[in-house]
Amino acid sequence: MHLIAPSLLAADFRRLDQAISLVNESEADWFHLDVMDGMFVPNISFGQFIIQQVAKDAKKYLDVHLMIEQPERYIESFAEAGADGITVHAEATKHLHRVIQQIKAAGCKAGVALNPHTPVSVLENVIEDIDLVLIMTVNPGFGGQKFIYQSLQKIRQAYDMIVVRNSPAIIEVDGGIGLQNARKVLEAGARVLVAGSAVFKAEDPAGVIRDLKGLESNPLISV
Ligand code: DX5
Ligand code: ZN
Repeated sequence: MHLIAPSLLAADFRRLDQAISLVNESEADWFHLDVMDGMFVPNISFGQFIIQQVAKDAKKYLDVHLMIEQPERYIESFAEAGADGITVHAEATKHLHRVIQQIKAAGCKAGVALNPHTPVSVLENVIEDIDLVLIMTVNPGFGGQKFIYQSLQKIRQAYDMIVVRNSPAIIEVDGGIGLQNARKVLEAGARVLVAGSAVFKAEDPAGVIRDLKGLESNPLISV
């Protein structure tokens, strides 16, 4: 079965408690938390302090997406803040292999994210070590952007690499995902759908989550 991970970035932060309850009570599987440092990406969002607050009320897996330079500086503090999984960008560190070990040592699931221009081949030497591959389907930094269609090809390439190498990793897609393209990304091999605007800017967020969850899963990845 595929998983739905609403991104709180698109929520109304004046009413964060309501957004958290909404996800808790919905059919969503994970909370997706987008951390931006104004260096790796042009935008600045939030950090450990907010995540710590979210963790107090969140009843689901906390999926932390670090869009920050040299994420190795902060792995332990995000784990302590309550992250269940931490995803770092391959482009943001010189020592990807080491950071992956660091995430695991901190007791979290380890993910690696790839920007739209980064080839799947950068995962060649770490694919067996990771729990998640995050294929960015927009350029990171902002919610509400348009899905980049060439990403479908990359999802398939990542899927093929995972199968050939017998990796335990699952594929997450992030950026511009909604009911209009979710089926296509699932068919390409995605297991986790991140959705920010499609959920929180909708009239009926819980309904969108239900519809995304209700899509047919790819039988190949529904283990
Ligand atoms: C983009 C973030 C995404 C973003 C997705 O940099 O990583 O998680 O919140 O938002 P939507 O679904 O609106 O594209
Ligand atoms: Zn994200």
